[in-house]
Amino acid sequence: MRVLLTGGSGFIGSHIALLLLERGFDVLILDSYVNSSSNVINRIKAYLDKKDLNYKLKSINGDIRDKKLLDNIFIDSIKEKKPIDTVIHLAGLKSVSESFSNPLHYWDVNVIGTLNLLLTMKEYKCYSLVFSSSATIYGLSNSVPMAEDHKISPINPYGKTKVAIENMIYDLYNSNINVWKICSLRYFNPVGAHPSGLIGEDPIGIPNNLFPYLTQVAIGRQKSLNIYGNDWDTDDGSGIRDYIHIIDLAEGHLASIDYLNSKESCLEFVNLGSGKGYSVFQIIRQFELSTGCKIPFSIESRRDGDVAKSYADISKAKKLLAWTPKRSLEQICLDGWNWQLKNPYGFQ
Ligand code: NAD
Ligand code: UFG
Repeated sequence: MRVLLTGGSGFIGSHIALLLLERGFDVLILDSYVNSSSNVINRIKAYLDKKDLNYKLKSINGDIRDKKLLDNIFIDSIKEKKPIDTVIHLAGLKSVSESFSNPLHYWDVNVIGTLNLLLTMKEYKCYSLVFSSSATIYGLSNSVPMAEDHKISPINPYGKTKVAIENMIYDLYNSNINVWKICSLRYFNPVGAHPSGLIGEDPIGIPNNLFPYLTQVAIGRQKSLNIYGNDWDTDDGSGIRDYIHIIDLAEGHLASIDYLNSKESCLEFVNLGSGKGYSVFQIIRQFELSTGCKIPFSIESRRDGDVAKSYADISKAKKLLAWTPKRSLEQICLDGWNWQLKNPYGFQ
């Protein structure tokens, strides 16, 4: 079975690629490398070679907004008699702050890019899609845990592009409910790394997110962690989030493919998280306990757009996809630290 993985060399895509290849899928990665390194592909190959696995992997350097390129990818696959069965669509931009300063770029890449992809899928009769949506679409709400029927009210342009895509997918599905098979997965906070330490998160510049910032403090690339507020309405005053091990998240995609393969047609919006909430202080404490590192920190004022609590109700994913997250917060810390230790400067 051939899977087109857009954004497949990014943080989440690279972990999904590895799992797909281990399970014997034929994988085509399409990535423009605007936020990733081509070294990722070599790392994936090195891992599979070491395990002596026969695998089918092709990587294409290109942009999802390039319609001609997309046409050629689908046409070539048909000519090779290995048509693309499913698309896992991760390619896109994800920085909340950048989406405020350059919203049109976000609408262009995320929305126009996805429109282009869906048009091409329709043209070449590829009707099976897994899409990377985000918990950011739930907006400013402290009502936890959040289920899929939680109010949608994004508060940043990035989140608005994800909602626009979910709406596009909804309309597309309803235009021909007999053929389309779609899962839109709403990720909470994916963190950690592959246990091999060969692939992991490698943000460009100063990390925006807690976990990569924390591991960079531990390795000495950043001096101290800024905690954005200790006066939130939570037990210890710091923000609570749902951190999910990247391998659990990747497994959720394989479970989604199995689910889509079992259906004639479907459209599902599904949360992927651990279902548990941890505060910033709890994350620091667990990281220090698991790794023996000391994390210096200072308390700063609240960050614009943050909420006190956000974590997922994952009952739907468990039931529908027969999937359950298995890895603990300790495992997240150990694997994230293993990756950072082995690759102090990421893929460089
Ligand atoms: P990432 O930036 O590591 O991966 C995205 C990949 O897409 C990168 O490799 C980038 O080079 C590629 N890309 C960007 N624009 C492209 C284009 N026009 N054409 C082709 N490739 C392009 O990000 P990630 O964390 O792996 O996120 C993957 C997806 O999951 C994104 O759609 C993101 O919005 C979504 N998501 C991420 C999180 C998170 O916290 N990481 C949470 C919710 C949703
Ligand atoms: N935080 C700090 N210091 C930091 C970074 C973060 O204290 O240096 C705090 C935040 O205030 C928040 C928690 O750590 O309380 C988590 O913050 P992250 O930036 O790691 O994650 P967010 O939940 O804010 O957002 C992330 C992605 C969004 C995505 C969302 C849900 O950045 O794009 O998860 O999936 F939409």
